[in-house]
Amino acid sequence: MSIRGSTDSVLLFYTINYVEYQRRYDTITSQEKTNLSHGYIPAEEYREMSNLGNYQTAYERFLKDPEKFWSEIASELEWFKEWDQILEWNYPNAKWFTGAKCNITHNCLDRHLNTEKRNKVALIWRGDDGSERIITYRQLFREVCRFANGLKSLGARKGDRICIYMPNTPEQIIAILACARIGAVHNVVFAGFGMESLHSRIRDSESRFVITSDASFRRGKRIDLKSIVDRAIVHTSVEKVIVHRRTRPRTELYSEIEIDFYDLMKERNYFIEPEVMDSEDPLFILYTSGTTGTAKGILHTCGGYMVGTYYTCKYVLDMKPSDVHWCTADPGWITGHSYIIYGPLLFGTTLLISETTPDYPDPGVWWDMVEDFGVTILYTAPTAIRMFMRHGEKWPEKYNLDSLRILASVGEPLNPEAFEWYYKVIGKSRTPIVDTWWQTETGMHMVTTLVGEKMKPGYAGKAIPGVVADVVDKEGNSKKAGETGILVIKGPWPSMMRSVWGNDERYRQYWTQIKDYYVVGDLAVKDDDGYIQIIGRSDDVIIIAGHNLGTAEVESALVEHEAVAEAAVIGIPDPVKGNIIKAFVILIDGYSGSEKLANELTYHVRMTLGPIAMPAEIKFVESLPKTRSGKIMRRVLKAQEMGEDPGDLSTMEE
Ligand code: PRX
Repeated sequence: MSIRGSTDSVLLFYTINYVEYQRRYDTITSQEKTNLSHGYIPAEEYREMSNLGNYQTAYERFLKDPEKFWSEIASELEWFKEWDQILEWNYPNAKWFTGAKCNITHNCLDRHLNTEKRNKVALIWRGDDGSERIITYRQLFREVCRFANGLKSLGARKGDRICIYMPNTPEQIIAILACARIGAVHNVVFAGFGMESLHSRIRDSESRFVITSDASFRRGKRIDLKSIVDRAIVHTSVEKVIVHRRTRPRTELYSEIEIDFYDLMKERNYFIEPEVMDSEDPLFILYTSGTTGTAKGILHTCGGYMVGTYYTCKYVLDMKPSDVHWCTADPGWITGHSYIIYGPLLFGTTLLISETTPDYPDPGVWWDMVEDFGVTILYTAPTAIRMFMRHGEKWPEKYNLDSLRILASVGEPLNPEAFEWYYKVIGKSRTPIVDTWWQTETGMHMVTTLVGEKMKPGYAGKAIPGVVADVVDKEGNSKKAGETGILVIKGPWPSMMRSVWGNDERYRQYWTQIKDYYVVGDLAVKDDDGYIQIIGRSDDVIIIAGHNLGTAEVESALVEHEAVAEAAVIGIPDPVKGNIIKAFVILIDGYSGSEKLANELTYHVRMTLGPIAMPAEIKFVESLPKTRSGKIMRRVLKAQEMGEDPGDLSTMEE
């Protein structure tokens, strides 16, 4: 039995949330008025050195001629054939750089080989046990080609979907780039996801191959991945499983469909021609949680995504050739796709990746790495910053953090306290903080404070040149400064999602709720200077430690358990993780609520969806608040929990 978390209509949500969020915003402004309004100016050297120069001038250049603006950026990359047209906009479908031919790996790898970057370090990897690997651009190119040849030898072709379920290792990056090299569409699943999440993503994308590792390592412990894959591929279209074997003694490969990662590369040629891709050919699918049941396979294509990620690395993260860039995300999320792998490699920077946990073996490990490797750009999430705040300044103070030049944040609002700590304790009150607002769907940064611009704690910033963002009411009229509204993007941008895999209608919904505008799903407020503050989601998506999770997914996992009749899940604010999950559960007759059963249900969710989806608390209840048409009213549960006014109850059943 499954009760899919049916939602109140999106617009109804907006109306209700307006009231709630306006009140919350009013509280924020009264408490933190000074912080929010005066802003911080980064040190002069950063303003002068920024790649973008003056924001206003750049923005006006974009507004004057958007096509020229994008064509100039695209021309910095290499294309096998130039575009006939920059944009073909057939609302709500966009085609960018139509007629152009390219391969993103040519620009990430081959393009650098005839320059001084050939022997430059592309990748530094630090493992959970402190071990290190260093790979140059030339070496990465060769490994990617060998693996791509291996995939070809198995019969992989352009357009095939290949699922990648691996920890943060160089092999994961090699696998991803090898797919792109041969034109296969990668579908990376975060290795922290459980069996059911992996299974549904493999099925939905109809993946022919799975590339995995036998294990990942965390806090010195081995976490088995292979057994999850073994179960997840049952009743799917998977033909072969490629296994990167990391543990000793070596994990046995029993079945005929399993192949060792390095055996597949053995004696393969160090070169393979990049597949000639049309600008609009699919590059990858990445699943993200939605308002209703199943995760959505967000589809990105080759040309526009390449231009968008390159552009934002250059102008938002302000990359320079000498940078050591460390994005602490996992490639299993869009941040990892765009700002660990594609963007930084397109730019040709050195990237640090790591399998480490921020507080293991102690909360100094990240700062040790910043000092040790001379990290210049640090890109992380508010939840990590808040965790470090809890451990105190003594940890970062032990290390020399002078190399840091840019501090960036993503995933959820960077609250003023966390902003100030990041700015003062880590950035020593001199480095710009770039709070990047964007989404899996947008592919690249959209709203942020650019390097050199005044920063305002609590505000992400303004739309970057190339993007038009606004805060509007449900008819699409601009809201006044200080009023909460719906965040929208007006018009297409190159790295926008092209569809939801197998579900064009779900794609259209982003653009048709308000005519001509892309409705983001977040509520926001603009101030008098046009700075945008993100207030939170307007739908049934909960952001936990920067990770998106649909209430429906967790509810559906709970009701799969034999003891559960119905379940409702809400997000409760948490000082470190942003939100935690609280579940309300109605049991089937004959079962009674106990701590043991609550633990069992938590474990069940963990095994089904993975650790991030685990409820922090389970409450057994007799009934759930519902509308007359039977939809669970989560906002009522939330208001009860928070001691707040539940708002309009006219639709609630007696
Ligand atoms: O609610 C916003 C929040 O994360 C959502 C997108 O999640 P996802 O597709 O998983 O991508 C996360 C990484 C890009 C947004 O709708 N979000 C993301 N960045 C910020 C943010 N909220 C506030 N400030 C941000 N900088």
